[in-house]
Formats: sequence, structure tokens, C-alpha cells
Amino acid sequence: MNALKTYKRSQYCGHLSVELVGQEVTLMGWVDTRRDHGNLVFVDLRDREGLVQVVLNPSEEATQSAKDFRNEYVIALRGIVRKRPEGMVNKKIPTGAVEVEATSCEILSEAQALPIQVDDDKVTETMRLKYRYLDLRSKNLQSKLITRHKVMQLVRQYLSDLGCIEVETPILYKSTPEGARDYLVPSRVTPGFFYALPQSPQTLKQLLMIGGMDKYFQICRCFRDEDLRADRQPEFSQIDIEMSFVDADDIMESQEGLVRRLWKELKGVDIPEIPRMTFQEAMDRFGSDKPDLRNPLELVDMSKSLKNSGFKVFDETVARGDVIKALAVPGAGTYSRGQMDKLTTLAKQMGAKGLVWIKSDKGGLNSPIAKFFDKEAFQKIFNDAGGKDGGAVFIVADTFDISCAALSALRNYLGVELNLIDASTDRHLWVTDFPLLEYSPDEKRWVARHHPFTTVVDEDLDILMNGEDSQFGSLKAKAYDLVCNGYEMGGGSVRIHRQDVQTAMFKALGFTPEETKRKFGFFIEALNYGTPPHAGIAWGLDRLVMILAGTDAIRDVIAFPKTAKASDMMASSPGIVEQEQLLELGLRLGQQAEKNVAEAKAEET
Ligand code: AMO
Ligand code: AMP
Repeated sequence: MNALKTYKRSQYCGHLSVELVGQEVTLMGWVDTRRDHGNLVFVDLRDREGLVQVVLNPSEEATQSAKDFRNEYVIALRGIVRKRPEGMVNKKIPTGAVEVEATSCEILSEAQALPIQVDDDKVTETMRLKYRYLDLRSKNLQSKLITRHKVMQLVRQYLSDLGCIEVETPILYKSTPEGARDYLVPSRVTPGFFYALPQSPQTLKQLLMIGGMDKYFQICRCFRDEDLRADRQPEFSQIDIEMSFVDADDIMESQEGLVRRLWKELKGVDIPEIPRMTFQEAMDRFGSDKPDLRNPLELVDMSKSLKNSGFKVFDETVARGDVIKALAVPGAGTYSRGQMDKLTTLAKQMGAKGLVWIKSDKGGLNSPIAKFFDKEAFQKIFNDAGGKDGGAVFIVADTFDISCAALSALRNYLGVELNLIDASTDRHLWVTDFPLLEYSPDEKRWVARHHPFTTVVDEDLDILMNGEDSQFGSLKAKAYDLVCNGYEMGGGSVRIHRQDVQTAMFKALGFTPEETKRKFGFFIEALNYGTPPHAGIAWGLDRLVMILAGTDAIRDVIAFPKTAKASDMMASSPGIVEQEQLLELGLRLGQQAEKNVAEAKAEET
């Protein structure tokens, strides 16, 4: 018999309240817990919206199946909402003032004992990901996906109101350089040829501007084969935006409106004007281009005051033209040797050759390098760095980039460890005036810091067009990043809309004319046919939802995420394919690949 003919859901379990007392309701859901008292069975029935207690009498014919109920069975029932007696109210759940007295019920689906329990925080991450569909039954994950849904609705509404048209762009496409490795898809029709999955729809959205769409947005999937971290997935979603006839300020202002709308609707807070800071200032003060402004610690440059200090490491650094940077940390004066060693290891992981620490404990200064200085001079170093009684100062002498990276890592770590971060607020920031290019020692060429379609500031245009390779490091980009709580939440730029400038850019990046033609010929050609000045931005949707949902794991806000090894534990993807499929695609496996496949097959049997 089709139970859904007899039972039609009238309410979600989680929506029951005292207003419905006396009414008949029909509920469907999972048995969350079940207490069998013989003459009465108490069930907590669960659906997406919450839980409600149901009382069933198994000796009545219409509710006799209640004695067969087990956890996670899916059931349908009809019953009357009753007010719970005084003293029996469950304050822990929103429906705790009522219960449902069942008049009939039916089992819709049985469940075996689950390999993981719903909402059990002792379950390992591996098991959770393998049984993601069970983990998704937890309130925690469901509420995060609901937040994601709300964000997407608000974004669509806001951007439509702004006049942006949502346009879909292809997934089977061509390499689009955003700095990561491409995911490739072999062509069956033309073996030997490959599609690349888009790292972002960058060229496509610019082509839409050339195509006269004026303002565009898309909530789209992007694919990047790169090392994964807690805030990175190999496939992720962007809120991708592009507008014609606008400049950087127009983009930043419109996006600020979206930030305000999202924070107001989802967190009930009014976001004040978002401060702007140049890349250089962010690096100087925080050692990072995505500083967490909730953290009060700031870096100090000591290169001048430590010039000719007499300490070899410092003096040689300054003589090389590198920098000495310091971070003063209140409350770290009592740190043990072990804790200092741990911080030194952290600094070294970021490339530093060492970490000088000076701590002020019980009135005196203590440091492994104190012996190289007279007492007064050493106290002055501590004071100049901003050191306070009971605090510590950490110093790194290295290239600007390494000193920043090491002290920024310390700043982040200590901000959390010493509880310096006010987690009750979110702090947004625009970072602007990025360098256009940065030198890649590995590739021995300049690479675009944002991407090759980002334009240079007007005053530097001549250097890009006619300058020497050696001058390119000083070029500034019309690029901006939206940072929140230390995460890069979004990034964009004003684009190159002149064909000659785009050609010069590819040349600066070391592409030969042939390479440029093969990879971007279609795009460069398009720029010839009337291109409006345009600019845009893309937000990382997953990161945005992660911040709004108050988690620091991007996996929590993605229904079916991948592991750090870019695999799906649930479906065992990536997986091996049939030999015929490879043949059809004109592919043959290499030695290592053959070995992996053989091992996987052996495991199957
Ligand atoms: P960008 O490469 O800065 O710019 O990406 C934009 C935003 O996407 C998010 N993001 C990621 N989120 C999760 N996992 C990843 N692996 C990942 N990589 C990036 C970040 C980032 O700020 N086409 C340009 C945008 C433009 O210029 O308009 C682009 O893709 O939050
Ligand atoms: P050393 O003279 O190499 O024994 O170093 C003395 C102290 O200076 C140790 O605490 C090192 O960790 C620290 N140190 C060495 N090199 C650097 C550097 N480049 N920056 C900061 N500290 C350093």
C-alpha cells in the first residue's frame, strides 16, 4: 500500500508549537530516539526543521507498529498536538512545550544500525565523509546548508536588483590562467585534444562584456588542481560579477552593499564603511595581504633602529638591503622555553632562518641574544619594538617577504592562543594597489599576481608597454581584494580592454607570440572589435558562507566536499575506468598509473 496516499504531511516536526494544541497533524521523519515503556512508546521524531516528541500506544491497532520502531526508521504518523504537563516541558528543544499523541502510524522505511550516529562528535572525519549522507542528517550540517541557500538567494536578489544578468558559461572549456593547475577532460571526438575545466569564468565574463551584456553575474563552479587547505577545495563556487563602464570604486561600492545586506539579513548586524588599505600598508603593519583586523597585534620595522647593532645576523641583514621586523606580544612574557621553540619552528616553517625572542618576565629581559648587547641597549630594542612588561618581542631578520610571512604566522597563531581576537565581530577590509606582477624564481619569469587580464594603474602604463623587464616589479595593479577575518573572501580588478595593452601583458609574462596566439588568440581578437572598459570581482561563495556560518572548515558548508587529497570518500572518486574508455579517448596509462590501477584492482578482489 502506498502510505503517502493515506498520509499527507501537514507540518514539519520542528514547527509544532502551543498554538497548534488540540489540532490534528500529520508528520513524517526519522526516529531520532525511542524509549519503550511497554504500554507507551516515546519517540523523538526528527525532520529538517527540528524534533518533536510523539507518544504512541502500541496496544492500539492503528499504532501497533510503534513497537517495531528502531532508530533512524522513517515513519509517518497522525496525531493530536497536546500541551505537555507542567514540569514535563523540555526547554532544550523549541517544540518542548508540546507533544503529539499519535492516533495512527506507519513505517515507511526501515534502517539498519547506522555506521555513524547522527550528531555524534566523537566520529572520525574519515567516517563522516564516507557516510556524508548520514552526517548530513545532523542539525549542524543542515543548518549550514540552509545558511548557504539563504546567502545564494540574497546574492541573486541583490545582484539582479543591481541590474546584473545571470548568465551560465561552459564547464568544458579551455585553460584560464588563475595560477593553479587545470583539471583536464580528454576529448573522445578528437583524441589527443583536451578541454580544461574553468579555474574561473574570467575570459568568458569579459567576452560577455564585449558581447554587450553590460552587467553580469553567475554563481558558478570553479576547478583548481592545487594544494588544499582548510579554506580551499579543488572545486568550489564563486559569485562571479562583471560590469561595463565602471571603475574600481564602482565595484567596491556595489559589493559593499552586498556585504551589508548579507550581514544584516543573516547576522542582524550593521556593517560600517569597509576600510581600505593598500597592499603595502597591509604588509608593513600585519605582514599579510589578508590581515585579520580583529587581532590587535602589529608588526614594527626595526631595520633602521637595528642598523649597526653589533649583532651579526641583524647587521648583515640590513647590509644586504633586507629587513628586520618585530612583533610585540603582550602576555607572552611568561612563555616557557618549549613554547618559544614551538614558535621558532613555526617561523622556520615560513622560511625564516631563526627567530629572536625577548621576553620580559618578573621585571628583567630574557633572550638568547641578550649576551650580545649591553643592558640598556637591549632594553631600548625591546621598547622600540613596542615591548611591554610581561610581554615578549619576536624578531625576524630576512627578506621582506619572509620576515612578513614568519611574523604574520606568529601573529595569527598567538592571536588565537592568547585569546586576543574578538570572535563576536567580523572585520572587513579592502586591500588595494597590489603589485601587478611578481617574479617566479621557479619559472624564471614574471607572473600575474591576480591574473593576466588585470590592468595596470594609469601612471605605470608606459612601463608595461615600453619598459624593461627589470622595471616590472614596481608596477601596480588596479586590483582589490575583499578580506574578512583574515580570509580572502573575494578579489577582482579593472580589466585590460585594449588589445595592445593585453598583448604587452602577455609579452611581459614571457609568452611567445605563438603561445599567446594558441592560448588566447580568440580573446585578443575579441578585444579588437569594440570592448567597453570593464571591471569585476569574484567572491568565494564557500568562504563567505563559512564566515557567515561561523566555522573555519570549508567542508562544513559544502554538501559533498573533497578531502585534502582531492578525493570523495563517499563515492570513491577519482576512480579507475575501463580499458575501453581509455582506448576510445586515445589514452594510455604510464607506469605509475598502471601500478596504481593494479593495486586498486587487487584491493577490490
Ligand atoms: P580569485 O582567484 O582571487 O579571482 O578567486 C576569487 C575568490 O575565490 C575564492 N577561492 C577559493 N575558494 C575555495 N577554494 C579554492 N580553491 C579557492 N580559490 C579561490 C577566494 C577568492 O577570493 N577571476 C578572478 C576574479 C576576478 O578577477 O573577477 C578570480 O577567480 O575567496
Ligand atoms: P645563531 O647566532 O645562529 O645561534 O642565532 C642566535 C639567535 O638568533 C637564535 O635564537 C636564532 O633563532 C636567531 N636567528 C638566527 N638567524 C635569524 C634571523 N635571520 N632572524 C631572526 N632570528 C635569527
